[in-house]
Amino acid sequence: MNSMRRPLIAGNWKMNFGGPEAITLAGGIAKASKELSAVDVVVCPPFTALAAVAAELDGTRVGLGAQNVHPKASGAFTGEVASAMLVAAGCTWVIVGHSERRQFFGDTDAFVADKTSAAFAAHLAPIVCVGETEAEREAGNTLAIIERQLNAVLPVLVAHKGEAMAIAYEPVWAIGTGKAATAADAEEAHAFIRKLLASASEDLAARVRVLYGGSVTGANARELLACPNVDGALVGGASLTLEKFEPILGAAQALTLS
Ligand code: PGA
Repeated sequence: MNSMRRPLIAGNWKMNFGGPEAITLAGGIAKASKELSAVDVVVCPPFTALAAVAAELDGTRVGLGAQNVHPKASGAFTGEVASAMLVAAGCTWVIVGHSERRQFFGDTDAFVADKTSAAFAAHLAPIVCVGETEAEREAGNTLAIIERQLNAVLPVLVAHKGEAMAIAYEPVWAIGTGKAATAADAEEAHAFIRKLLASASEDLAARVRVLYGGSVTGANARELLACPNVDGALVGGASLTLEKFEPILGAAQALTLS
């Protein structure tokens, strides 16, 4: 972490808790976050729970994000949700380009860039995800993949460089596997992302929070967050219970005070 950037911890609930359980968990996280004045906290429930969780989080320190958005504002796109609809449901954040979208739903680099534009157009802060697969890492292509994915969206980020946004580096092989990147590997990727951002805009690079995602737990959060270019975490599995999420929030808070 770097004292210029407030840590951001975002919980990606994926396809879990679409109803009352979401409200209970969000309420618990809001309570646990009350005193964590140094940390920004965001939860990203499924679409069906967004409005109810927004009501639960009203007046708390916890922000609300969606997990996906369609680039178009409206129209014949059965099953899709537009950025203004997410705002109407109470969101201020949205995850775009998650590797599960890229892998299972065909999201291309160009589509991710369009989604990012749509997010900014509605004043939603995008969390743009990038990261290599295991095969890509083994072939020595990690940085090339990150560069390709980031370059596709970089002009959009630069055009909105004063607005809220984050990037998440999520190596695909680390997601849901219990095998997080080492702090050294995470820092290498994050420093590379920072360098690419700086080549387009120094201001943007200095300001944007680059989150690490992939098997973050209470046990490894402190070491990962201590890396100078790691500004927070995008947490999947460990964001689904308060018992597992709270220590990650605590690690971020403790680091800002140390
Ligand atoms: P994980 O997921 O923490 O369960 O590895 C992270 C993510 O996919 O955002």
